[in-house]
Amino acid sequence: MPKLNVNIDHVATLRQARGTNEPDPVLAAYLAELAGAHGIVVHLREDRRHVQDRDLYILRETVKTKLNMEMAATTEMVRIATDVMPDMVTLVPEKREELTTEGGLDVVGNRKTVSKAVDKLKEEGLFVSLFIDPDEKQIKASKEIGADMVEIHTGSYAEADNEKKIEKELKKIELSVGIALDQELRVAAGHGLDYRNVEPIVWIEEIEELNIGHSIISRSVIVGIEEAVSEMLILCS
Ligand code: PXP
Repeated sequence: MPKLNVNIDHVATLRQARGTNEPDPVLAAYLAELAGAHGIVVHLREDRRHVQDRDLYILRETVKTKLNMEMAATTEMVRIATDVMPDMVTLVPEKREELTTEGGLDVVGNRKTVSKAVDKLKEEGLFVSLFIDPDEKQIKASKEIGADMVEIHTGSYAEADNEKKIEKELKKIELSVGIALDQELRVAAGHGLDYRNVEPIVWIEEIEELNIGHSIISRSVIVGIEEAVSEMLILCS
């Protein structure tokens, strides 16, 4: 069974929508761990649209499982990561206008920048994963620049809307996992995984970890609403 790391970015998205201090992603991380999550993932974006620096620093103190910091390969983020020292760092591409991380990191096309960030992070003893598309060239480049792990982007698989496309995307992921293992890279996967599409990915035994956010946070809002309304009704009566 792969380890399940819960991405709590969207708890922070909800908080930022009101600019208050609730819901607190720190509390969400605590409850996710109590429920059995093997790790907590947060993406500190350059524009700070959801997770804030404060969240990351407190999570470093409170997360008892494993803290995975997603970040762009920038000087600012490398500085923060080497100060916070999460259990691992995942380098992701970042564009200001995107709704979520779109596509994997182009390690081949940005080799110099990514390699510089990997070197700095590893110099400080951090474990580094690269979030890449299921593509042989990207996997090999990741190995060449010294990554410890690759996280295979499952977005195209998750978006595939018929059996043929799903099979094609699954094959790509399976092949990529094999290539990564041949390169002696460790393998994670994530993006767009939900309650309906996760199972075939779980069957790929060599994938050690799944990083899942949006579907879990969305479901938690829905399955928690009855209790939340009941509690408020008690206060109103
Ligand atoms: N892995 C990476 C590298 C991501 O950037 C994200 C989204 O923040 C995820 C996994 C989780 O994706 P989702 O929210 O669609 O489950």
